Amino acid sequence: MTPVTEQSTPVLRLRGVCTHFPVRGGFLGSLFGRPSAWVRAVDGVDVEVFPDEILGLVGESGSGKTTLGRTMLRLVEPVAGTVEFEGRDITHMSEPDLRPLRRRMQPVFQDPHAALNPAMTVGDAVAHPLRIHGLASDRADARAQAAEMLERVGIAPASAFLDRYPDDLSGGQKQRVVIARALVTRPRLVVADEPVAMLDMSVRAKILELLLELKRDFGLTYVFITHDLATAKFVCDRIAILYLGKVVETGPAAAVYSAPQHPYTRALLEAVPSPDPSHRNPNRRLPSGDVPDAADPPRGCRFHPRCPSAFGPCGWEGHDLIGALEERWTDPETFAAEASLVGSLSGARHNREGVFFPNAGEDLAGLLRRLQVTEAHPVFSGVSSIASRGSGVDVRMRPGSEPPLQPIGRQLVACHLHGVIAAALPATGEPPSVRGRNAGEDRRPPGPAT
Ligand SMILES: Nc1ncnc2c1ncn2[C@@H]1O[C@H](COP(=O)(O)OP(=O)(O)OP(=O)(O)O)[C@@H](O)[C@H]1O
Ligand code: SF4
Ligand SMILES: [Mg+2]
Repeated sequence: MTPVTEQSTPVLRLRGVCTHFPVRGGFLGSLFGRPSAWVRAVDGVDVEVFPDEILGLVGESGSGKTTLGRTMLRLVEPVAGTVEFEGRDITHMSEPDLRPLRRRMQPVFQDPHAALNPAMTVGDAVAHPLRIHGLASDRADARAQAAEMLERVGIAPASAFLDRYPDDLSGGQKQRVVIARALVTRPRLVVADEPVAMLDMSVRAKILELLLELKRDFGLTYVFITHDLATAKFVCDRIAILYLGKVVETGPAAAVYSAPQHPYTRALLEAVPSPDPSHRNPNRRLPSGDVPDAADPPRGCRFHPRCPSAFGPCGWEGHDLIGALEERWTDPETFAAEASLVGSLSGARHNREGVFFPNAGEDLAGLLRRLQVTEAHPVFSGVSSIASRGSGVDVRMRPGSEPPLQPIGRQLVACHLHGVIAAALPATGEPPSVRGRNAGEDRRPPGPAT
């Protein structure tokens, strides 16, 4: 592992970067060609990559890893924020101005089958970037440089491969060719997006070893994208954990693994399979529920619908309350005692701000107030008001707030458990140590990492 000198100028620096994609659909969208919504794939990311280090971008599918990696390389343009490469702002740099920098920042994509043109020989594929960037004096020179790099990545003897086509190669060999093509321009930064995920298990370790060896030999800086925390632990110096387009925890890999501070990081780490059967975690699973839609992220903390530690300020919505009641009524006795006050839950009208229960009276309002006081479920600490209105009961939810990244030990962590909010909470908003669905868990703010 490379010692990281955070005092040095970053190779790459992103500030407040947002990369959104238009969703076209619906009647008006198709009529006017306007997007009906935006997928907020990357939504306010600050990140730095220091010389010679390997920064891991880790998160579940859909968390924005690939989009962030592509934004770093200006393969996609952000809608907000800045991207600096070697101290130069490249956010809106024109393609001709960007071209000389492109040879110094190269991608390695996940799928080597798709990354190589089936009609181009291995030699031409690796020589192509040399010709684009004017780094070879003629065709023969480009071919010689390509051959040298192919041998360096283990495609040897290169003379036996230069005139072959990708279809003649195994998956591992194709990825070696992709790596040779990325390195032949002698880049400073390589963004490797799940570079072994699509390879046979038998070759994954060899390709990872090769990437590490090449990094040492060529003095490279890597951004390494993976959904696999075990691989990230093996490879990375620092890690940024992404959730729904935001960094929720970042810091030295050793600190993140030994003292994870964000509930999402903890859940991901609990889901990592142990190679030792005697240490297998019987509760091993990813955080419950699906990753929400990035076009419509939950308000407050985006992780709140899945977070086992969520409390008042985390942000709750009307459908969270409906979900909590459904969960509560899976117990037949509770259902028999309470459900008649509400009638059918499907009749309740809810939106982000709250729920209106039609044809319900003071009995339901009283029940909800009791549940709020007894903290039957953390969602009740997010209820701001319960009022009888007309022939129904109206429940308003506190909007919550997005937790900012703040230093905790050696990490930066975005979670209200660590914030001033936790310190200044009124009684109903306290992070509960024993409550509802997590009864028995200690959910007080954990101490700082050491
Ligand atoms: N070109 C695009 N147009 C519209 N939406 C997109 C586009 N690319 C990505 N998205 C959306 O942006 C979000 C983030 O996608 P991204 O591919 O960056 O995630 P990821 O973390 O790399 O996921 P995976 O682990 O599956 O590769 C997803 O909701 C995805 O559907
Ligand atoms: S702020 Fe922290 S405790 Fe609250 S939902 Fe998010 S991760 Fe969980
Ligand atoms: Mg991806």
